Amino acid sequence: MAVEQVYHKSVFLAIGRAKQAARVRNVEPNIAPPRALLPPRFLSLSKGKRVGFRTRRFLYLPVGDEVAVFETCHARGLAVMLKGPTGCGKTRFVEHVAWRLGRPLVTIACHDDLSASDLTGRYLIRGGETVWQDGPLTLAARHGAICYLDEIVEARQDTVVVLHPLTDDRRMLPIDKTGELIEAAAGFQLVISYNPGYQHVLKDLKPSTRQRFVALEFDFPPPRLETEIISHEGGVDHATAVVLVTLAGRIRHLRDRGLAEAPSTRLLVATARLIASGIPPRRACQSALAAPLSDDPDLLAAIHDLIAATLG
Ligand SMILES: Nc1ncnc2c1ncn2[C@@H]1O[C@H](COP(=O)(O)OP(=O)(O)OP(=O)(O)O)[C@@H](O)[C@H]1O
Ligand SMILES: [Mg+2]
Repeated sequence: MAVEQVYHKSVFLAIGRAKQAARVRNVEPNIAPPRALLPPRFLSLSKGKRVGFRTRRFLYLPVGDEVAVFETCHARGLAVMLKGPTGCGKTRFVEHVAWRLGRPLVTIACHDDLSASDLTGRYLIRGGETVWQDGPLTLAARHGAICYLDEIVEARQDTVVVLHPLTDDRRMLPIDKTGELIEAAAGFQLVISYNPGYQHVLKDLKPSTRQRFVALEFDFPPPRLETEIISHEGGVDHATAVVLVTLAGRIRHLRDRGLAEAPSTRLLVATARLIASGIPPRRACQSALAAPLSDDPDLLAAIHDLIAATLG
């Protein structure tokens, strides 16, 4: 079995145990990180196996200095919190910086059923024997990966506190069940994200958690940049991307009239992809941009008017 497959297998086994709450994005052949940033080519697994990895490349167009700030945090062992509305590029940003830094990326989608054991690991019965199975957080700490916990406010407080010792200077992960105290490997970094807009006020991070992270604030990219993103990601020409971004800007103003969530860059990309595949633009906008935003007939009528006025 190729070394990369060995690594994949071990990581996905652990993830299966974590109620499929995690996934790993770590390998794509042929695309190497920038030379100056090349990481050690091998990670050591607990049984002494050495496995190779490359990080898949994800295009991310920076809005400001967020890449530089993140990389400084990475170099100084600081945990990072990404705040911003849905579909504005937080996940894409993490995927991109993981590629730049040449680190494997372990992503955990948080939910209220996620337990501390889902993160750290648990004993399993296998072939009549009891064996310890690392969870995704433990795997990331052992192997110096970037560990990204998406929608962290969905996780219960007793789960979130497991992260605390990893954000201290010592960067330790105590595993109560085994008595092991794991020192996070070089390159390990915690990243959490959430959308401050829609979560219930009761779902907030405790100050003792918040103050362990450097915060990077995200929002929808400015129009010129968003146009470039839509054109590249959606596969449409520049003129079409300009129209879609103009339309999004107009719909975003409807927030004043009760629209709860503004159309995201993600929705624009989806709309562009439909258009690029031959769906008539007006139909694509109605299905991919308007309908997912609201069920309110008045708001939908207002959005359809804007579509008609902008597309001509
Ligand atoms: N700066 C950017 N550069 C390139 N693509 C971007 C950028 N910002 C957004 N995108 C596009 O928008 C899509 C949605 O972004 P992403 O999935 O990162 O959103 P998110 O902030 O993680 O949302 P959520 O909070 O719902 O998870 C991406 O798949 C990508 O196509
Ligand atoms: Mg995301």
